[in-house]
Amino acid sequence: EKGGYDYFMLKEIAEQPEAIANTLLGHLEGGRIVLDEQRLSDQDLRDVDKVFVVACGTAYHAGMIAKYAIEHWTRLPVEVELASEFRYRDPVLDRSTLVVAISQSGETADTLEAVRHAKDQNARVLAICNTNGAQIPRESDAVLYTHAGPEIGVASTKCFLAQIAAAYMVGLALAQAVGTKYPDEVVSEFRALEEIPAVVEEVLEQMEAVRDLARQYAASDTVLFLGRHMGYPVALEGALKLKELAYIHAEGFAAGELKHGPIALIDDGLPVIVVMPSPEGRAVLHSKMISNVREIQARGAKTIIIAEPGDTAAAAVADHLIPIPHTPTLLQPLVSTVPMQVFAATVAQERGYDVDKPRNLAKSVTVE
Ligand code: F6R
Repeated sequence: EKGGYDYFMLKEIAEQPEAIANTLLGHLEGGRIVLDEQRLSDQDLRDVDKVFVVACGTAYHAGMIAKYAIEHWTRLPVEVELASEFRYRDPVLDRSTLVVAISQSGETADTLEAVRHAKDQNARVLAICNTNGAQIPRESDAVLYTHAGPEIGVASTKCFLAQIAAAYMVGLALAQAVGTKYPDEVVSEFRALEEIPAVVEEVLEQMEAVRDLARQYAASDTVLFLGRHMGYPVALEGALKLKELAYIHAEGFAAGELKHGPIALIDDGLPVIVVMPSPEGRAVLHSKMISNVREIQARGAKTIIIAEPGDTAAAAVADHLIPIPHTPTLLQPLVSTVPMQVFAATVAQERGYDVDKPRNLAKSVTVE
């Protein structure tokens, strides 16, 4: 049942192209994005004037990615918050607020309570969930199911990428409802998304080099992760994967925060994994990242850079380069996450840990 893999997680990493493709399947009809169980009228969606994304853990990182895409496509204000914080605050919500709850299991206690907290204040709730008929989608006004298939490994991999794909579709559905995207633009964004599974496949074929690198750094006490813009949540996810699977101190930072503290941690030989934005995207994002990398390299960090193969500036400051094919800036997380997952799983295996069942963790956190 592990399909020839030593662990479910490795099989699930390999299943990611399919997970994304299946999640997109059937959601573009006649130039429009359609959701699954929509107990919200078109008017309800048109009336949305603010979006709140709530989730925990890895799903929260998908929410951070969703924020950037939804804001860009809809021009609506989007906030993203940990469900465990949201539920104990007094967030300002009303009938025209759309709360997007992201949960693989659909049973996470804090996310469920965040949904109830939102409903108590008359907000509309849309769930992104991988489990049919789970509690969170049952209590929501609309649902978008991720079709990643069952995820056995405790650490989320294919469900994370499927959540991101689904969140992009929510952004496009909202953009068509509020009128910031014409049908042909929705179609072209959707087509760009549909090309991603093949790109992820390509990345997966090149993972032996990442495994070698992970073995080389498996004895590290600390690994830092650095990203900016779409790369920032990917850096956080890379760090979460490494700490939960390999029990190594791992931290992700927004590159722009380096000078505000974290750069003090940089020491001789410290590995730092960097997510480089596409050099074909916004030039300022790319050049800022290059100077950040120069700063840490000058202080002795070993730089491991995930970048496009044509990125000569990144190659010049990389101790190790992990190439990923070109992708549109907003969609890059679907691709740049993959080497992070492989890195964490390999370090954990190298240290002799069970990557499917990390210590102290449960697959579904139904108690707080
Ligand atoms: C980390 C991981 C967890 C979950 C979190 C939310 O690899 O899997 O951080 O993402 O517990 O779970 P769901 O998505 O079921 O609400």
